[in-house]
Amino acid sequence: MQKSICVIEGDGIGPEVMAQAIKVLNKVALKFNHKFDYQYCLAGGCAIDKTGKCLPDETLNAVLNTDSTLLGAVGGSKWDSEPANNRPEKALLGIRKAMQVYANLRPQKLYAGLDSPLKTEIIGDGIDIMIVRELVSGVYFGEHNQSIENGEQVATDIMKYTEDEIKRVSKVAFELAVKRSGSLLLVDKANVLATSKLWRSVVEKMAKDYPTVNVSYMYVDNCAMQLIKKPSKIDVILTENMFGDILSDEASALIGSIGMSGSASLGDGKRGFYEAIHGSAPDIAGKDIANPIGMILSVAMMLRHSFDLEKEAASVEKAIDLFLQNGYRTQDIMKADNTLVKCSEAGDLICEYI
Ligand code: IPM
Ligand code: MG
Repeated sequence: MQKSICVIEGDGIGPEVMAQAIKVLNKVALKFNHKFDYQYCLAGGCAIDKTGKCLPDETLNAVLNTDSTLLGAVGGSKWDSEPANNRPEKALLGIRKAMQVYANLRPQKLYAGLDSPLKTEIIGDGIDIMIVRELVSGVYFGEHNQSIENGEQVATDIMKYTEDEIKRVSKVAFELAVKRSGSLLLVDKANVLATSKLWRSVVEKMAKDYPTVNVSYMYVDNCAMQLIKKPSKIDVILTENMFGDILSDEASALIGSIGMSGSASLGDGKRGFYEAIHGSAPDIAGKDIANPIGMILSVAMMLRHSFDLEKEAASVEKAIDLFLQNGYRTQDIMKADNTLVKCSEAGDLICEYI
């Protein structure tokens, strides 16, 4: 199989973790006889430095004309003074919107041997949560306004959802629930927000088409609490854009390190957008100590969801398991008896296990 991949290394630790992802893809190509063509593009702070724009047209073109896109991380305090429409984060939102990748899958799994900050008795049967976050609408993409009213500053951010926007991402979540444990949790704030009431009514209607899925509903404040009280009771979470952003950071803290989470952003076709959920971590950039597992898990998700290469995806996940089982750790997940490795060594070892 031959596929073209747009590679956006980005800022901070982005290039370091991306280098490991590319090593892994090259190993997969060699072992399973595929060809991956990489098109390296700029986005985020480095793009501002080199071109003045956080998301150059050339990058947008590549994103829309390759088979899928991998992104390392964007952002950093260096670009804090950029105008709102040219901040590095805008590149991310611009890519998501242009690709119309409305379903953001953020699996959060606690691997054996890794320490969660939660007590063992709370972890119970383990943590294996799939967050399905709506990614191209809601308050992120509603109108943002600042003005002066009666002599004082006021600001508004509009949160808007259409029925169709809710249906298409919910379908993805229902289908995942069918494949997993058969339970789906819609997280909203239906006691206050009109958008949440619409989410509930759409999901309630759709539930009739999925008789094997047990649908439940929870307010987002309660969900934030249940995640740390009974995480093993939660399987698939479906939620709107901003709630998903917040809950996925919380959930990732429960699995030992934000460096352990990959993600897939999917739309109607096969083309997807794949990024680790950690940020650019400028404090550790350039030191070769970042954890590349989130990025490599994102590669596995790309192989599975965009290229239908299930066997290859599973072999990458298996390699990560073996790497961890053999006691290798980057500094963020390091414990007493483990072997400390650098980011690049982690990439090499995971490749060896493929
Ligand atoms: C994420 C990030 C982004 C988001 C930021 C960088 C705009 O926090 O991917 O979770 O809020 O979506
Ligand atoms: Mg976030």
